[in-house]
Parts: sequence; structure tokens; C-alpha cells
Amino acid sequence: MQKVFIKSYGCQMNVYDAQRMADALAPDGYVETQDIAEAQLVVLNTCHIREKASDRIYSTLGRIRRMKKARAAEGDAMQVVVAGCVAQAEGKEILRREQAVDLVIGPQNYHRLPELLSRAKHKRVIDTDYATEDKFAHLPDPQADKIRTRGVTAFVTVQEGCDKFCTFCVVPYTRGAENSRPVAAILKEITVLAQAGVREVSLLGQNVNAFHGETDQGGSLALEGLMEEIAQISGIERIRYMTSHPRDMTQALIHAHRDNPCLMPYLHLPVQSGSSRILADMNRQHDRDAYFRIIAQVRALRPDIALSSDFIVGFPGETDQDFRDTMDLVERIGFAQSYSFKYSARPGTPASDLADQVPEAVKDERLQALQALLIAQQTAFNQATVGRRLKVLVEKAGRHDGQMAGKSPYLQAVQIDDATARIGDIVEVDVTGIGSNSLYAREVAPRETGPEPHKMEVHA
Ligand code: 5AD
Ligand code: SF4
Repeated sequence: MQKVFIKSYGCQMNVYDAQRMADALAPDGYVETQDIAEAQLVVLNTCHIREKASDRIYSTLGRIRRMKKARAAEGDAMQVVVAGCVAQAEGKEILRREQAVDLVIGPQNYHRLPELLSRAKHKRVIDTDYATEDKFAHLPDPQADKIRTRGVTAFVTVQEGCDKFCTFCVVPYTRGAENSRPVAAILKEITVLAQAGVREVSLLGQNVNAFHGETDQGGSLALEGLMEEIAQISGIERIRYMTSHPRDMTQALIHAHRDNPCLMPYLHLPVQSGSSRILADMNRQHDRDAYFRIIAQVRALRPDIALSSDFIVGFPGETDQDFRDTMDLVERIGFAQSYSFKYSARPGTPASDLADQVPEAVKDERLQALQALLIAQQTAFNQATVGRRLKVLVEKAGRHDGQMAGKSPYLQAVQIDDATARIGDIVEVDVTGIGSNSLYAREVAPRETGPEPHKMEVHA
């Protein structure tokens, strides 16, 4: 038995890819470990989106090189793989700078991992070509016991790549053109997950609402159509999707938030900036008013929806007034959760060549102000759920004895006191208070779902 240590950076698509890499290695006898010291194979699944994340890889690789040397001195071999978006963007540079790396593999080629690893035993290998075959079709399905150890929620990538070319973003270069998986393959994968106990799926894509998957009949299904089919799969109770682009928020998708009972009332819809001028320079292909219109529509159909967004401060040319426009947009909308970043110039992207770069100190100041507002909004959103009755999907044991932990429909972490519910149950709770990272709640009796006891009663 060999052990593999996989570390993922960046987005949830990397988390999903890491699982599929582990699945691809399982037939060769690899078992995952959380302890790098006992691993014969180390995989860094990297992120290229901002400079910091990207540069950190080289210092991590330095540490791994020393570890590999020490192991070699004891006669132990260790293979080192760099995967993910830095691999795709800087593969040759990685091999040049870091002798310890045996294999560089781009995100489109993970199905070739076992074969490339055996080649890399003799000679260092780089594979960052865009594979012509569909990697998902060649990756083995996860085994039921593995799915169970991963829990009752699962990520499923349904779409990859992006054709939007926002001027700050490397994704269209690292992940390539938009590409949707065929509908039947997705439904099959989710059926396997559901049979092993998964109750919630998060559909992932860099531009997930641009999804247009081929059907067996030769037609095509958009995201809301796919979600209707997924809602029919026995065992699946909850569906989420991310990340979306405002341009692809179609009427049909907006209506799904009212019409699909499995679709959770949560929408992650990055706006990046509240200034129409900056949005134009970012090539976002919509202005501030268009964003307000979408949000108003979604809220009209699903008033309790929790909204989430990504923001970039300090995009080249961003003035104080532009930044005030962002703050104003945040104040008007009110977000339940958000991610905000300082603009990071990425090689090869159009915005990195713009003359009017914003000084670091200004970016820092703006990020602080924005984050203070976003955190206050998040706290207010959580506070507003105190006293409300919510359904929670129980995911694991809680922090303290007798507690179970799960998620609300709004993606809030919930600690349930004196819980009788088991993992995989969806229970009604009364929210009693908020902590720093989660809500506190009490179960409402009797338990509403809990598959086995109900069925047994019927037969009795
Ligand atoms: N600088 C800062 N943030 C960026 N993002 C993407 N590219 C950059 C960049 N060059 C942010 C965007 C995107 C999220 C995934 O990362 O907000 O939505
Ligand atoms: Fe990057 Fe824009 Fe595509 Fe999102 S929509 S992945 S920010 S280019």
C-alpha cells in the first residue's frame, strides 16, 4: 500500500479535482493520508488566481525538496507532482526552478495521472496540453466507501473554463474555453453519490450558469434544466451552484429559485465592483444597474435568498468615487457572505499592462473598509435568523458532546445542542443565538426526516 498526500489551494473546483485524482490513483493501491511525512506521493494542486497564492508554491516546494532529500538519504523514494492552474500556466518554469518536482500536470489531464507517474519514475514529465478527450469520461467513479468518508455533501464539477475574459483574470488562459459535461454523465455521478448517502450537491463551474450540457437525445440542457433532473434523484434533497456570472443569469434560472424545491436559497453572484466605469474596464459586460435589476428580480421570486459576491478593490484606475460606488452597492444590496480581494496584476492579462495601477496602501485601506462593511452585513444576516425555525442538514458531530453540526439553507454553519439527529438527517431547528462562526440551535421535535425509522413504521 502506498500513501498519497494531496494539498489543494484556491477554489472548490480544486477540491473536487483532488478527490478525482485520489479516485484515479486508488486502483494503483494509493490511499490518501493527511500526513505528508508518511507519503510516497505528494501532489500540490495549485491556484494561480492571485500572485500570493501562486508564489507560495515555490516556498512550499523548497520545503518539500528538503524533505525528499532527507527521505532519499534513508533510502525512501518520494514523488512530487504539481497540478492545478500554476502547473498549467508556469509548468516549464516550475521544472526549471524546482529540481524536486517529478511531474507537472495541467487540470485537463488528471485522467492520465497514473500513467504519467510511472513515466516520471524514469524522467521528469510535463503534461499541460489541453487533452482532446473528456477527462471526466476517463476518470474512475469514486467508490461508495470513499464517498461515505467524504460526507453527506459533495461537489460535482459540471462545467469548466471561461470565455468571458475579464481583463484581470487568468482563468480563461489556465482553464481554457467553456466546456460543459454531458447531462447523462453528471446524473450518473450524482446517482452514485446519492446511493452512498450524499444528500446535497454543489454544482461547480468557473462559469456554472453558462452550463449547456449535451443530452442523450442530441439536445442541450441549461443549468435550471439540469437541476430539475437532479432534484428527481432519490436521496438528493439539496442543490447549490457556483460560481455564476451576471450575464448568464437567465430568466429561467432566476425562476428556478422559486420553482425548484431542492434549490437552496443562496446565490453567489460576483459583481467585482459597484462602479459602471470600472465594470466596463474589467470587461464584465454589464453595468451596476444590470446587477441591481437581477438582484431585485431574484428577491421578488425568493425573498429570503442569501446573497454572496466577490469584490476586487484597487483595479487599475479605480478612484475614490469608484470605490464609494462599490461601498454604495454593498449598502443597498446587503450580502449574507462575501469574498473580497486586492487587485493582483497577473502576467498575460490585459489589466496588468494598464498604466494607472493603484498604490498598495490605497488598496489596503479600501479592502479594510469594504471588509468591515461586509462583515457587519454578515453578522446582521446571521443575527436576523435568531428566533427563526430553519431546516438543517446534519453533516458531522459538533464541537462539544451532544452537539451535531450542519448547514442551514443559507449555508450558515449550525451547531445543534442536545441533538438526536444523525448525520444525513434534515432536521428542523430553532435558532437560539449566534457565535463567531456559526449559529446555535435547538432541535424541534419530532424529527421531520430520517429515512429508516419512517420506513420501519410503515411496515410495522
Ligand atoms: N486580482 C484579485 N482578485 C482576482 N480575482 C480574480 N482575478 C483576480 C485578480 N487578478 C477574484 C475575483 C473572482 C475570484 C474568484 O477571484 O473576485 O471572482
Ligand atoms: Fe475570470 Fe471573469 Fe471568467 Fe470569472 S467570468 S473566471 S472572473 S474571466
